[in-house]
Amino acid sequence: MFAELIKKEKKAAVIGLGYVGLPLAVELGRKLSVIGFDINEQRLEQLRQGNDPNKELPVSALAETSIEYTSSVAKLAEASFFIIAVPTPIDTHNEPDLQPLLSATRTVAGVLKPGDCVVYESTVYPGCTEEDCVPLLEQISGLKAGRDFKYGYSPERINPGDKEHTLRNTVKIVSGCDADACECIRRVYSLVVEAGLHVAPSVRVAEAAKIIENTQRDVNIALMNELSIIFDRMGINTYDVLDAAGTKWNFLHFSPGLVGGHCIGVDPYYLVYKAKELQYHPKMINSGRFVNDSMGRYIAKKIVKKILAQGKNILGARVLILGVTFKENVCDIRNTKVVDMVSEFQDFGARVDVMDACASSEDVQKAYGFPLVEHPEGPYDAIVVAVAHTPYLSLTEDDFLSLSGDKPILGDLKGIYRGRIHRMIYWSL
Ligand SMILES: NC(=O)c1ccc[n+]([C@@H]2O[C@H](COP(=O)([O-])OP(=O)(O)OC[C@H]3O[C@@H](n4cnc5c(N)ncnc54)[C@H](O)[C@@H]3O)[C@@H](O)[C@H]2O)c1
Repeated sequence: MFAELIKKEKKAAVIGLGYVGLPLAVELGRKLSVIGFDINEQRLEQLRQGNDPNKELPVSALAETSIEYTSSVAKLAEASFFIIAVPTPIDTHNEPDLQPLLSATRTVAGVLKPGDCVVYESTVYPGCTEEDCVPLLEQISGLKAGRDFKYGYSPERINPGDKEHTLRNTVKIVSGCDADACECIRRVYSLVVEAGLHVAPSVRVAEAAKIIENTQRDVNIALMNELSIIFDRMGINTYDVLDAAGTKWNFLHFSPGLVGGHCIGVDPYYLVYKAKELQYHPKMINSGRFVNDSMGRYIAKKIVKKILAQGKNILGARVLILGVTFKENVCDIRNTKVVDMVSEFQDFGARVDVMDACASSEDVQKAYGFPLVEHPEGPYDAIVVAVAHTPYLSLTEDDFLSLSGDKPILGDLKGIYRGRIHRMIYWSL
């Protein structure tokens, strides 16, 4: 299979051209014949015109590639090596929603031929590939896994907005259903990952490795958030404490903040779901989720108290929030916890404007029912910088004051302006 892929006698396909699938397709496209399959026609059209809707890849990267973008299953059938990178969200009860993953699996199963290989990249709970996906591949294709077709799992470590840690320079985990699958999958990914590959002993180990990477981050950030609540009561700044503690060689560097997005705030629920199926009710992981999920409302309440403490009425008070994306320098607004802050402020009767240096107002309106403000007009009673987008780092106290009324408050969730604010009431996590 690998030799035929290299000679372009066989094609690879990436299913799901989002934050994970597109960069992978583009890198593979430099070496192999690649079909980029997606169900979102609008996205496909933008890609054909050379634009990444997520603004992660430069126009030049897309211009150089010869990927065949398609939503045609007949076209997909030309591929022999399939990589599935579709979303794995949670439902309203925080349980795994496997619908996109199973739907993509059905699509691939419908075109699967003897000798093909299917690799999953989507983040799932350990066991999902072999218990939920492979049986579906077998059932629909009529083929036997291991004998007629191979499968594997290779979790993505992409970090949107991060130009330093890329697909090429980050070690990637690969796994396969048997030694042949492992070897073929390893060689394909070797074409694009220069940092090296770690071959996990099984698909389940690879799945588990991915899910604990994000669970570990979630629990550690939750600890920082809890510490920040405690230190706030003590009147000491958490970031000052972290600067001091961080001088110890084995102190882990995490900071408090909102945990949203498609990964860290979601993946632990996949692990919790699987653990509960095995009659274990995780306490640490759930506690972390509880703390992090509560932070948006906690922050809004802190600012509301500060406004009230200035002798102002919260009804009709004006708040400006800078940043709505789930993290800095990306346009991704999925599961952003900034909306928890917005709704908590509104519950108190405050009027909230939100602006963002990266996100699209149309997307925010569609997802959350309010538009972004492009040119904020003060005076605001409080300004909260929620996301550390690069353009916000250089804002000065004068910039904030020019938008503020009397007794102005600055909420600085990421501790960016520490030591630089003297004429405003300053609060940070
Ligand atoms: N975004 C990240 O930083 C990141 C990092 C590591 C892992 N992951 C994981 O990778 C997976 C993909 O995440 P993402 O952020 O790239 O998602 P995304 O939403 O950016 O992109 C997914 C793409 O899949 C398409 N799609 C959905 N259902 C489909 C189907 N049935 N057939 C074909 N295409 C379909 C969508 O139209 C979309 O273009 C998830 O499991 C996620 O947890 C994401």
